[in-house]
Amino acid sequence: MRAMVYRGPYKVRVEDKDIPAIEHPNDAVVRVTLGAICGSDLHLYHGMMPDTRIGHTFGHEFIGVVHAVGSSVQNLNVGDRVMVPFNIFCGSCWFCARGLYSNCHNVNPNASAIGGIYGYSHTCGGYDGGQAEFVRVPFADVGPALIPDWMSDEDAVLLTDACPTGYFGAQLGEITEGDVVVVFGAGPVGLFAAKSAWLMGAGRVLVVDHLDYRLEKARTFAHAETFNFTEHDDIVLEMKKQTDFLGADVAIDAVGAEADGNLLMHVTSAKLKLQGGSPVALNWAIDAVRKGGTVSVVGAYGPLFSAVKFGDAMNKGLTIRANQCPVKRQWPRLFEHVKNGYLTPSDIVTHRFPLEDIAEGYHVFSAKLDGIIKPLVVPSAA
Ligand SMILES: NC(=O)c1ccc[n+]([C@@H]2O[C@H](COP(=O)([O-])OP(=O)(O)OC[C@H]3O[C@@H](n4cnc5c(N)ncnc54)[C@H](O)[C@@H]3O)[C@@H](O)[C@H]2O)c1
Ligand SMILES: [Zn+2]
Ligand SMILES: [Zn+2]
Repeated sequence: MRAMVYRGPYKVRVEDKDIPAIEHPNDAVVRVTLGAICGSDLHLYHGMMPDTRIGHTFGHEFIGVVHAVGSSVQNLNVGDRVMVPFNIFCGSCWFCARGLYSNCHNVNPNASAIGGIYGYSHTCGGYDGGQAEFVRVPFADVGPALIPDWMSDEDAVLLTDACPTGYFGAQLGEITEGDVVVVFGAGPVGLFAAKSAWLMGAGRVLVVDHLDYRLEKARTFAHAETFNFTEHDDIVLEMKKQTDFLGADVAIDAVGAEADGNLLMHVTSAKLKLQGGSPVALNWAIDAVRKGGTVSVVGAYGPLFSAVKFGDAMNKGLTIRANQCPVKRQWPRLFEHVKNGYLTPSDIVTHRFPLEDIAEGYHVFSAKLDGIIKPLVVPSAA
């Protein structure tokens, strides 16, 4: 089969690999019909994630058709059209029993903090991902769901990560009626977080980024007020001005460890590797929220230390909530929102790259060229 492979920072290409085999009775092998590149994949592409090995196939957003099933699989049949959450989880450990699917204790021998993620380095279990023609799906009875007939492929693939993660970001914000919600980042995750904030009763939704074309999308797709942080000397002060100098009730970090906006943070992280990431957006969130407010962190940070303003968070009495999204927990509610037309996740798709051209896809997405917001990946066999 053809599969994307990592060759080192900023280098990916498509190679031949063996079609994955059933390795365990509860495995399935899925023929991928549509995939996507996530902002999280850029952290791997940029060489920011420890233990990203040469030859690893990325891709944790994909849907497909069941190609083979192991002997114990009961919920899936060959030929089923399925969507697969980006988390790999067992469904039965202490954490899964409490819905903490992204924190499953049984699927990642390499780290205890995080469960398994398809195509997300050996730090997240070393599972090959779905930017390929076929992918092995462990715990096939637990993660995947049949795609309802009424759901389009493009909506389904966005429901495997970006859309539920944005929704989860708004949930972690514990938004109450009338709250002012500031979302840092107008990428796919931030756009869905902003849109979801209204569903949870927000009174105002403000989105901060420095890419005007994405802020435009935040206005049209998520009906948000928008702020380009390069147009303000101090974006935190601007957020204070917007909120009677109290601060927002809720701030959502949908940027993560590769934030722009602070040269010192950039140099000490990406260049000198003195910290694991550049927590500019997280620090802005801590500063922009009011005392007693909530900071929701869905932007991704790796296992290494970052210079987060914890003293301010402590002294302001903030609630900080963070996690990788437990995707399957969000599905019942999101299926309803998609079915009744409130949310059309595919509205944010801007690019469709054939799998053979995935190197170009990574380059365009990483460099934010050509108005890109969400790139899909179309395998040749699909
Ligand atoms: N928690 C989870 O389960 C989960 C799931 C998916 C993605 N993520 C993470 O969410 C983050 C966003 O993902 P995405 O797909 O939207 O990525 P993306 O790269 O497309 O979007 C990030 C956006 O943040 C903007 N930005 C950069 N610095 C900023 C700053 N200081 N303030 C405000 N905006 C800034 C960028 O211009 C860009 O538009 C990434 O860190 C990704 O790894 C987490
Ligand atoms: Zn992702
Ligand atoms: Zn588990």
